[in-house]
Amino acid sequence: MAEFGFGNPEIVEEEVDVLIIGGGMAACGAAFEIGQWAKAAGANLKIKLVDKAALSRSGAVAQGLSAINTYCGENDPSDYVRYVRNDLMGIIREDLVYDVGRHVDDSVHNFEDWGLPIWKQPGDEDKSLRAGGKPVRSGKWQIMINGESYKWIVAEAAKKALGMENIQERVFIVRLVTDKNDPSRVAAAAGFSVREHKLYIYKFKCCLLVAGGAVNVFRPRSVGEGTGRAWYPVWNAGSTYAMAAECGAELTMMENRFVPARFKDGYGPVGAWFLLFKAKVMNGFGEDYSTLRADIIKDEKRFGKYGHGVPGTCLRNHIMLEEMLAGRGPIYMDTPTAMQKLAEKMTPKEVKHLEAEAWEDFLDMTIGQCGIWAGENIEPEKTPSEIMPTEPYLLGSHSGCAGIWVSGPTDLPGVPEEWSWGYRSMTTVKGLFTAGDGVGASGHKFSSGSFTEGRIAAKAMVRFALDNKDWKPESSRTTAELVEEIYRPVKTFLEHKDYTTAIDVNPHYITPKMLQFRLQKLMDEYVAGVATYYRTNGAMLKVAEKKLEMLKEDSLKMRAKDLHELLRAWENYHRIIAAEAHMKHIQFREETRYPGFYYRMDHNYIDDENWKCFVNSRYDRNTKQWEIKKVPYVQLIK
Ligand code: FAD
Ligand code: ADX
Repeated sequence: MAEFGFGNPEIVEEEVDVLIIGGGMAACGAAFEIGQWAKAAGANLKIKLVDKAALSRSGAVAQGLSAINTYCGENDPSDYVRYVRNDLMGIIREDLVYDVGRHVDDSVHNFEDWGLPIWKQPGDEDKSLRAGGKPVRSGKWQIMINGESYKWIVAEAAKKALGMENIQERVFIVRLVTDKNDPSRVAAAAGFSVREHKLYIYKFKCCLLVAGGAVNVFRPRSVGEGTGRAWYPVWNAGSTYAMAAECGAELTMMENRFVPARFKDGYGPVGAWFLLFKAKVMNGFGEDYSTLRADIIKDEKRFGKYGHGVPGTCLRNHIMLEEMLAGRGPIYMDTPTAMQKLAEKMTPKEVKHLEAEAWEDFLDMTIGQCGIWAGENIEPEKTPSEIMPTEPYLLGSHSGCAGIWVSGPTDLPGVPEEWSWGYRSMTTVKGLFTAGDGVGASGHKFSSGSFTEGRIAAKAMVRFALDNKDWKPESSRTTAELVEEIYRPVKTFLEHKDYTTAIDVNPHYITPKMLQFRLQKLMDEYVAGVATYYRTNGAMLKVAEKKLEMLKEDSLKMRAKDLHELLRAWENYHRIIAAEAHMKHIQFREETRYPGFYYRMDHNYIDDENWKCFVNSRYDRNTKQWEIKKVPYVQLIK
C-alpha cells in the first residue's frame, strides 16, 4: 500500500453556514458578495469555498479572455432578453435573464476598479466605465479588454473578501449528501484532496454548487499529441449537473449543447474576428457561403420563423455544416481581407498595432492557437485560417442553456408563481443553490453574467442561512460509508493489482482513461457527435441508453492507482450522469430545436406547436430512473 501512497485517508470534517463548491466566475461573485450581506444583517456567518484547482487560474476564464461578452451599457435589459431568446431558439427563462441583465454592469465596473484594463473609445482612455467612459464594443453586448489576467484579478477580489483561511484549493467534491431527517434537503458534501491523502466532509445550512459545465463527454476532434485540447476548460467535468441530479434537483434543457465554430485544432474563439475585425467566412472555393446561401434557413417548414432576422448561433453552424456536407470545405476565416479592409484608412504604425491585436486576441485567451499559427507559418494578415465546428459541450452560461431549474426573482410582472419558491437561485432541493453554468434556460451570461449570478445567489443564501440559524445539518450517510464509496477505485486497484503483470491490463478493473474512451465513443457515435455530423434518431438513442446503463454499471470497476486517477475516475462518473441526462432529454424532445448543434433526423424540424416548452427531468439515485416532463414556456417580454 505504502508503495502507492495509500493508507486510510485522513478525515477532515468541518461544519459551516455556507459552502461554495467551485472557484470560477460564479463562485468568485458569491465570495465577493456574501460577506457584505452577512455584515449588513449583523451576522457572523462561516463561509467556505472549495475548488478542485487553484482559484487564480481555474475554470473557463483560466487562460484569460479578450472580451467581456455581457455588458448592457446603453442597452436596456429587456433588449438583452430579446437577444438571448433569439439566440436560444425561443425558449429561455426570461425572468432569470432579465435579472442578470439589470445587474451585470455593476460587476463589470467592479472588475475595472480591481484593475482589469477595459478598452475605451478615443478620448475616454482615462475615464472609467463607472464615470461614463465609453468602451470599445466589438458587438452590441460585447466589450474588449486586455484580459490575460482576468481570472487572477477576479480571484484576488474573492480571496480578499473571504480570506484565504476560508478557501480550500485542490479538493474535488464528489458527492452531495441529503439531510438525515429531510431527504428533500441537502446537508453535506464530500470530496478528496488531489494532492494529499485526505478526505473532506463539509456540513452546511446551504451550499452553492458552481462547478461549471461539462467537457470531454464527447470524443474530441483532437487526437494523438493534441489529445486533451478542447475549447471548453478541462476542469469542468459535469460535476454541477451530476451532483445536483444525484441529490434530486430538477434539471432543465439538458438536451441543449454548445457546438462552437472555432479556429481549427487550436480551438481559438471567433468572436473578435467576426465582430471586431468584421471578417467573413468562405468555403474552399473562396465563396462567402454565409451570404450566398443565407436563405437555406428561411425554409419555414423546417426552421419556423427562426431563420428570419438575425440567425442564432446554432443556425450559423447549420449553414456551415451544410457547406461541409456538400463537399465545399474547408471552411476559412478570411483574416487577410478583413485586415486589409481595416488597414485601408490606417497609418503604417496603426497597421502594426492591428497586427499585434490579431495575435493578442489569442495570446490573451487561447495561447495554443498562437502556437498553431507559429507552427504552421500562418500570418493572419496574409493567410486565412480554417475554422471547424467542435465536439459538443454541455454548459449554461455561454451560447447554451443546459442546467438546473432554479427559483427566480419575485418582483417582475407576469412571472408564473411556480417559477419562484422562496429563495432566488435555489434549486428544487432545499438549501442547494446554483449560478453560472449551473443555471439552465438562461444562457449568454458569459463571464460577467456568471459572476453576477453568483452575487445574486449569495444574497439569497445569507437570508437562507439566517432563516435556518437554529437548524443543524445531519448527514444521511456515515463517514465510513462516504470513505468506502469515494475510495472504492483505490481499493479495487489495491485488491487486484497483483493479478496480472501489466498494471493496465486486468480483468478486475478498468482504467479511468479507457472508460473515458468508451463514454466518448458511444456519445460520439449515437448521441450526435462529430462522427455522424451531429445527427441522431430514436433508434440510435435507444442503443446509447443501453450502453450508458452498462457503462454506469462498469464505472464501479474503475481503478485508481494514484490520486490523479482517483480524480479522473470521479470526473468520469460525473460525466456519465451528465451524458445520460443529455441523452434522455434529446430522446424526450421529439423535434430538432437546435439545428447546427444537433439533429433528431426522425424529427428534423422545429415544432413550436408541440415543443415550445422547457423539458425538465429528475433523477432517482436509488432506482436509477429518470422522470422527464414538459414545462410550459411563458413569454414575459414582447
Ligand atoms: P467556471 O468559471 O468555469 O468555474 C467552474 C469552477 O468549478 C472552476 O473553478 C473549477 O475548478 C471548479 N470545479 C469543477 N468541478 C469541481 C468539483 N467537482 N469540485 C470542486 N470544484 C470544481 N465570457 C466572456 O465574457 N468573454 C469571453 O471572451 C469568453 N470566452 C470564453 C472562452 C472559453 C473557452 C470558455 C469556455 C468560456 C468563455 N466565456 C467568455 C464564458 C465564461 O468563461 C463562463 O461563462 C464563466 O466562466 C462561467 O462561470 P462558472 O463559474 O459557471 O464556471
Ligand atoms: S468566446 O467566448 O469563446 O470568446 P466567441 O468568440 O464565439 O466565444 O464569442 C464571443 C461573443 O461573440 C459571443 O457573445 C458570441 O455570441 C458572439 N459572436 C461570435 N460569433 C458571432 C457572429 N458570427 N455573429 C454574431 N455574434 C457572434
